[in-house]
Amino acid sequence: MCGIMGYIGQQHTQEILTNGLKKLEYRGYDSVGVAIHDGEEVHVTKAEGRLDNLASRLQDAPLQGSIGIGHTRWATHGRPSDENSHPHTDDETEFAVVHNGIIENYIELKDELVAEGATFTSETDSEVIAHLLTKLYDGDVVSTIQKVVEKLDGAYALGVVSRHTPGKLYAVRQASPLIIGSGNGENFISSDIPAVLEHTRDVYILEDGEMAVLTEESISLMDVTTGKSISRDLFRVDWDMEQAEKNGFDHFMLKEIFEQPKALEKTMAGRVDKETNEVDFPELAWTEEQVAKWDKVHIVACGTAYHAGLLGKAAIEELTRTPVDVEVASEFRYRNPIVNENTLVIAVSQSGETADTLAALRQSKELGAKTLSITNVVGSSISREADNVILTLAGPEIAVASTKAYTTQVLSFYLLGIYLAQKKKQITPEQNAQYMAALQEVPEQMEEILFHNDEIKEYGESIKDAKSVFFLGRGIDTAVALEGSLKLKEISYIHSEAYAAGELKHGTLALIEEGTPIISLLTQEKLYDKMLGNIKEVSARGANVLGVTMRGNVKVTQYVDETCFIPETYSLFTPLLSVLPLQLISYYTSLALGNDVDKPRNLAKSVTVE
Ligand code: G6P
Repeated sequence: MCGIMGYIGQQHTQEILTNGLKKLEYRGYDSVGVAIHDGEEVHVTKAEGRLDNLASRLQDAPLQGSIGIGHTRWATHGRPSDENSHPHTDDETEFAVVHNGIIENYIELKDELVAEGATFTSETDSEVIAHLLTKLYDGDVVSTIQKVVEKLDGAYALGVVSRHTPGKLYAVRQASPLIIGSGNGENFISSDIPAVLEHTRDVYILEDGEMAVLTEESISLMDVTTGKSISRDLFRVDWDMEQAEKNGFDHFMLKEIFEQPKALEKTMAGRVDKETNEVDFPELAWTEEQVAKWDKVHIVACGTAYHAGLLGKAAIEELTRTPVDVEVASEFRYRNPIVNENTLVIAVSQSGETADTLAALRQSKELGAKTLSITNVVGSSISREADNVILTLAGPEIAVASTKAYTTQVLSFYLLGIYLAQKKKQITPEQNAQYMAALQEVPEQMEEILFHNDEIKEYGESIKDAKSVFFLGRGIDTAVALEGSLKLKEISYIHSEAYAAGELKHGTLALIEEGTPIISLLTQEKLYDKMLGNIKEVSARGANVLGVTMRGNVKVTQYVDETCFIPETYSLFTPLLSVLPLQLISYYTSLALGNDVDKPRNLAKSVTVE
């Protein structure tokens, strides 16, 4: 999704902007641009495509100045093109604006502006903001921005520079993330922390309805509607720059796959009472009475987080016998969901900014539910708005395809299930101890799988020319199959589907032909024989089957073409292990195809628009 970077200070503005935008590339984009104030005028350079295209234009005609804004665009209104790239300006380039979000009433605003003589050069909703700024300019940029914002409906994070104020940079946030980086004699705005981290660790996280005015020496925050000044403590970022760098790995995705054992250890630490071995979430501190009140749990999420939610359902239902619904947030928000004060709603989101998940969370709050978020980003909208938060401590996830965030979400659900079962007195101390011992072994078991990475690599490369790949599972393996299939689609662009294996014969079996790769999961002992029956069905039609199963289950080797063994654990926890080979397969398939693994086409890391 779009990324914003802004700078005011005495360093090389053009370079700081382009370096910052590079750090935001992971969000997904299709065009890019910068605007720099040279003290007299504002100059804009933009380009369709990747940052390199912009860099070569800037090399031919560098921009000088000490204030600038930059933007990576992910097309929503109007195709990717030079014209539709941000920054956008008014006819006389009095103002330049970068925007992340969607202006819902832009058509009526545009019609009005065009009727008054404004010339639009793009098809975007964002350009109206620049024209409105000029139209409403009253000699004071702050009050002008306030008047403009009053007219906008929708979501927007804005960065603004004005020819009239060569020493100021402006930022506004409404339902789209924006942070302000505080430096020494220089300040920054950005959509995300990694973009400013090489310059400063001190940031303000803007809230909805807030504006920031930056000079080289100062940052003032205010309520954009009333103009009332806001005082807030700086937030000190405590993770390392290294964590947001590739660290010797060829891609962020591979690095993040290999970081999973550590990410799980971190997520577990502090949530397990060393003496009793019980799960404790100090951040929840729920009472037994509170927990007893919830007769239903509802999980809302999108994409990979939704797949983690499917496993959350399995864990909570199995451990507490409380009914759990899981729904994609974009559907939930437009239904009339049965949610009330006796419901616990869990919003799962790596970024904590996904627009649909945030809307579903808000709706649940309005309906009186208790809300909990499971997110990876401290200070994100979803983490702030939910009643309680479980932070997955995966560290920054940069690759668009989610890996370590997913496994830490799944682990959080296991811990939460055990925690709820403890509160409901539905788990014996012995069971508790056994589960915790098993979970604590998982990071090491993950290392084992990652160590045998070479065979998985070969398999991944071998399916690169497939027309379609199918993932099969039963029970919780079906949820893992869905995640494996999504990973493959996202980064290899190969058509793929995941099926509950028993359902295949009701239509999809017609697609299986000689050589079709099938990746089948067999981690649930009580379902082994059923799965083997389904494998026979596809093998008989010529499919080439890989079986992912627990070490020791040698019987499966007689039925499949290739086997990938994973270490043994409780059947409920196998997804933490079985997903690893699937993540690696998609990585190596994508690599063999020469795709941009970390930044797949058409996709965005954080989808902050509907
Ligand atoms: C985007 C990403 C997916 C992610 C989904 C939900 O579509 O490309 O990888 O699973 O958003 O993101 P969230 O940040 O809410 O987990």
